[in-house]
Amino acid sequence: MKDWRVAQLDDIAEPGALEFTTGNGDWPFRGVLVRWQGEVHAYANVCPHQGHPLNILPDGFFTPDKGQLICVSHGAMFDPATGVCTFGPCAGQNMRRLACRVTDGEVWVSAPASMLDV
Ligand code: FES
Repeated sequence: MKDWRVAQLDDIAEPGALEFTTGNGDWPFRGVLVRWQGEVHAYANVCPHQGHPLNILPDGFFTPDKGQLICVSHGAMFDPATGVCTFGPCAGQNMRRLACRVTDGEVWVSAPASMLDV
């Protein structure tokens, strides 16, 4: 496992989300930090429906009412705290969660080095 400092906590709105990428080449790893109800969650930015990234616009992960994450491809919605799909074509499936923590105002993600390529 490798720890990677991804962002400053203050870089993420509450509620809000921040996309991040790491790795080289044509297919870098894409992830998203989600700040929600006082906690930060990290997920792979991969929809369990067809594997698309959830967003098109940078950091455009939330529904307009800021209540759910949404995949722009086919409208699947996800609980920000769990990554479980609550509505749409992959209802009941999960976004891939990554371990993360906040230390001294910095958000760290832990994942296999091969996945993050850092
Ligand atoms: S790829 Fe996300 S809803 Fe289809």
